[in-house]
Amino acid sequence: MNIIITGSIAFDYLMSFPGSFSEHLLPDHLSRVSVSFLVDSMDKRRGGCAPNIAYTLALLGERPRLMATAGQDFEEYRRWLEASGVDTSLVKVVDGKFTASFFCSTDKDGNQIASFYTGAMAHAGELSFRAAEGCDLAIISPNDPAAMVQYAGECRTLSIPYIFDPSQQVARLSAEDLREGIAGAHIVVCNDYEFEIIRQKTGMTETDLLAETEVLVVTRGEQGASILTRECAIQVPAVPPRRIVDPTGVGDAFRAGFMKGLAMGAPYEVCGRLGSVAATYVLEHMGGQSHAYTLEEFAARYKEQFGPLEA
Ligand SMILES: Nc1ncnc2c1ncn2[C@@H]1O[C@H](COP(=O)(O)OP(=O)(O)OP(=O)(O)O)[C@@H](O)[C@H]1O
Ligand SMILES: [Mg+2]
Repeated sequence: MNIIITGSIAFDYLMSFPGSFSEHLLPDHLSRVSVSFLVDSMDKRRGGCAPNIAYTLALLGERPRLMATAGQDFEEYRRWLEASGVDTSLVKVVDGKFTASFFCSTDKDGNQIASFYTGAMAHAGELSFRAAEGCDLAIISPNDPAAMVQYAGECRTLSIPYIFDPSQQVARLSAEDLREGIAGAHIVVCNDYEFEIIRQKTGMTETDLLAETEVLVVTRGEQGASILTRECAIQVPAVPPRRIVDPTGVGDAFRAGFMKGLAMGAPYEVCGRLGSVAATYVLEHMGGQSHAYTLEEFAARYKEQFGPLEA
């Protein structure tokens, strides 16, 4: 299946501070802050929703096309993605800008101070589905908010079935933007917290949402996921991880597994189960692109939990 993945491409710079931030933030001096934390470790990781989803889909045997903007520091990341089976020909490199970057310092008590630089992501609106031929399925994942709304409009006009995946951008998208993304989407996917925000912002109930989209998928962490259509409600259990290393990218992997099911023409229940299996592998590894398996290994893990996977 010809799948296009849109969303952020980012690098995560993760640092750890061995002390407590609160000891350095003096309540009497908050009107003029100048602090520098000497961190003792720094890790740079490949991230962003779109490459995370694309990476897992490629592991599952698809060749997704990544449609997103990156900066002058993208070249090595591109090579990694291509070597992993992701088609990066639709990625636009914006000269003179860095790839979106997330800088996060965590202190010994788990408090975090972070900044997110949008960088090249702010140019996402310069890409268009009109320039991408033969797309059978698209996903609109967190990105520059205006670009997300634009892509949804293009997919509707071009009759491309799309998954609207606003995720953490529910905080930034207006009620109008959310309604635009939802209206005409084949599937809307979010976690339970984001679903509540969508409900509050748009005033739409579950029934209202299902009048605009065929399927609503709400993920619930270790409780699994609910798949709602106009006809039925399906509960999909999570797959217990063998160990939990890091939850980063778990939602993205779920989406990739679900999309693999769509590409196979599987019923929604099987799509959800594929999502659960794909997600648990990510929990067992550091970051959203450190896991690897063969299709046989994946099918065996699926079988262990849900019985044979029928293609
Ligand atoms: N502790 C867990 N054990 C097993 N599976 C999990 C666990 N947490 C999440 N999952 C799987 O991942 C899916 C998505 O998780 P969740 O609802 O937490 O997404 P999210 O909050 O969007 O995650 P992210 O942090 O990636 O944005 C769940 O439906 C489930 O299948
Ligand atoms: Mg999420």
